[in-house]
Amino acid sequence: MILGQKNLIIPLLGGIQFNETLTMNIYEKYLLPRIVNFTCGLKPMMKQREKVVPLAKGRVLEIGVGSGLNLPFYAPSLVKHLWGLDPSQETWALAKDKLGTLNFDVEFIEASAEDIPLDSGSADTVLITYTICTIPNVLTALREAHRVLKSDGTLLFCEHGLAPDESVQRWQNRLNPLWKRIGGGCNLNRPIPELIEQAGFSIRSMETMYIPGWKPASFNYWGAANSI
Ligand SMILES: C[S@@+](CC[C@H](N)C(=O)[O-])C[C@H]1O[C@@H](n2cnc3c(N)ncnc32)[C@H](O)[C@@H]1O
Repeated sequence: MILGQKNLIIPLLGGIQFNETLTMNIYEKYLLPRIVNFTCGLKPMMKQREKVVPLAKGRVLEIGVGSGLNLPFYAPSLVKHLWGLDPSQETWALAKDKLGTLNFDVEFIEASAEDIPLDSGSADTVLITYTICTIPNVLTALREAHRVLKSDGTLLFCEHGLAPDESVQRWQNRLNPLWKRIGGGCNLNRPIPELIEQAGFSIRSMETMYIPGWKPASFNYWGAANSI
């Protein structure tokens, strides 16, 4: 009898687990890229991109290029070549209609930032927007950014992260586990400038503010950093 129950329950549990994994995979592969494209395309974030992306010049690596929301903000007269790196081919597919209008070469690299398939010192600019929150091994990724950047190159960043107010921080820490699960690995509470500096950069200029929106996800850091 006990053996019989076990034989019934274990495959049943296995089935539930399988269904949950399948549902998560479908969500992350097909639905999440569209949700991220929509939320990251909202006006306050688009205004932030306008402050940072036009400063990119030369051979540019954009880490976590996503659905290409930054593409319209590059200055065509300054950019020689753009590598757009992202592990998600499905998200990049949403950038297709923006590509035809650009006056510079764009090369998509399907890879993770923790292991960038480019030679050391090959980029004049590395751009990263709303992605430091998501990369699993973020320090490894930022060290890779440091490696591929020329010694006189610039890291441009615009990210949301840990807020300065304790009351907001408390909500960021409380909600982070759930948020991370539904948000494709996005963390609400990463200390952005500290991470950039730990990876070997010196921050040259930085501004911060809450952009309009949900407070736990809206404290923004943007600026420029050099290699040290
Ligand atoms: C919130 S989206 C931001 C996309 C884009 N940077 C923007 O500003 O709209 C985060 C992006 O990070 C990408 N990502 C996740 N893990 C990554 C990794 N290990 N290396 C590089 N990109 C990663 C995701 O695929 C997604 O496109």
